[in-house]
Amino acid sequence: MWVFKMDIKQIFKNNEKWIKEKLAVDENYFKDLSKGQSPEILYIGCSDSRVTAEELMGIKPGEAFVHRNIANMVSSVDLNVQTVLNYAVNQLEVNHVVVCGHYGCGGIKAAMESKDLGILNPWLRNIRDVYRIHKAELNEIECEEERYKKLVELNVQEQCINLIKTACVQQASKSRDIKVHGWVFDMGTGKLIDLQINFEEILKGIMEIYHLD
Ligand code: CO
Repeated sequence: MWVFKMDIKQIFKNNEKWIKEKLAVDENYFKDLSKGQSPEILYIGCSDSRVTAEELMGIKPGEAFVHRNIANMVSSVDLNVQTVLNYAVNQLEVNHVVVCGHYGCGGIKAAMESKDLGILNPWLRNIRDVYRIHKAELNEIECEEERYKKLVELNVQEQCINLIKTACVQQASKSRDIKVHGWVFDMGTGKLIDLQINFEEILKGIMEIYHLD
């Protein structure tokens, strides 16, 4: 594992250097940045320190509204993610909502183990529920590593479904072409994998029970 001791003072030196670099390219960079934001994307990812948002997508400040939590969950009772979603969809009017998981996710791994993890239990319960829904498919995979990868993918898929279950996304889909994307970041190769979430098909499938608008 990659370990290093960070001198926190170095952060401020880095910041000074970064300001100089930005201003050397564009002297109005910070003036323009302060004018406001109109991001196109809401990115919901894992808090894992290795899975950055902007860097892996190759985008700049101002281009993505970001929410990160353990294992990129979209829980209906998590006021934090629901507030971010509402603000991004209704106020910022983003047209793309992304759930990005990653292989090697500690949250997913923990949910696969039979262990009492205290305050993490209710959070990981949501992932265990994903396992239960897809139990037959997962239990058919003999290799534990492959099963783990599959759960990462299925969890992203379920969180995309959770997004489409919200009134906020259902209403937005009526007035504009809002898209929900499920991605997995493979940190072993750096590759971003698109799980090709079919918004229309999911919406059609869940409306009988989750119709809210
Ligand atoms: Co993770």
